[in-house]
Amino acid sequence: MRTKIVAGNWKMNKTLAEAKALTNEVLNLCISEVKSAVKVILCVPYPFLQSTTEQCEGTTIAVGAQNCSEHESGAYTGEVSAAMLKSIPVPYVILGHSERRQYFREDGPMLAKKVDRALAHQLTPIFCCGEPLEIREKGTHEALVRQQIQEGLFHLSAEAIGKLIIAYEPVWAIGTGKTASTQQAQDMHAVIRKELAAKYGDKVAQSIPILYGGSVKPDNAKELFSCPDVDGGLVGGASLKARDFVDIIKGA
Ligand code: PGA
Repeated sequence: MRTKIVAGNWKMNKTLAEAKALTNEVLNLCISEVKSAVKVILCVPYPFLQSTTEQCEGTTIAVGAQNCSEHESGAYTGEVSAAMLKSIPVPYVILGHSERRQYFREDGPMLAKKVDRALAHQLTPIFCCGEPLEIREKGTHEALVRQQIQEGLFHLSAEAIGKLIIAYEPVWAIGTGKTASTQQAQDMHAVIRKELAAKYGDKVAQSIPILYGGSVKPDNAKELFSCPDVDGGLVGGASLKARDFVDIIKGA
């Protein structure tokens, strides 16, 4: 049995004061309302990692970053290393989000290096994959997502890949209000798990959590999360409202 995971991806939103207030609200609602054993992760912007970590200390909520550098350290102005995240300490990091792939040209080889840096510092990557609309319409989405998994992850040993969380996020569903149907989500999660099993064996593939992302909302979370291969969600827009986010957590 894989534990359900709900991760909030705040993207580039909120000020420090707003971030503190939102974290507080999520914490309070979780304490009073969430009874099941769901792993909750708040992936907040870099400037809020320290304060969110302090606020979540001693609770069941964990903190994650939204990216890290593929380099260990050095002259990379504006970048943040895995070692820095670990030193806070932040345990999770989103890697390969479609917005990073699209706007910052992050590709398979670069993401493979980022995954390595994160694992070298004992961070858990939340590795994102997913197809844009034109690929879905062409019908080549399965091939593309398999390729993203191969390029980003297949250099890893079975032991190393077993430490990851994967998130399937169809780009056409991100921030659009258009969610994948439960069948579409389940089908792609099964494709990913099959791909993992072909390379690493069934036991490893069955142990890796695969989250769905793309317009997850309180009213669709429960149905999506009930699919056999969907182990929770990566939530963008709805994670910025404590009430909605906690209702999604309750859906898991
Ligand atoms: P969304 O974003 O929930 O706003 O669609 C999901 C994500 O990009 O992780």
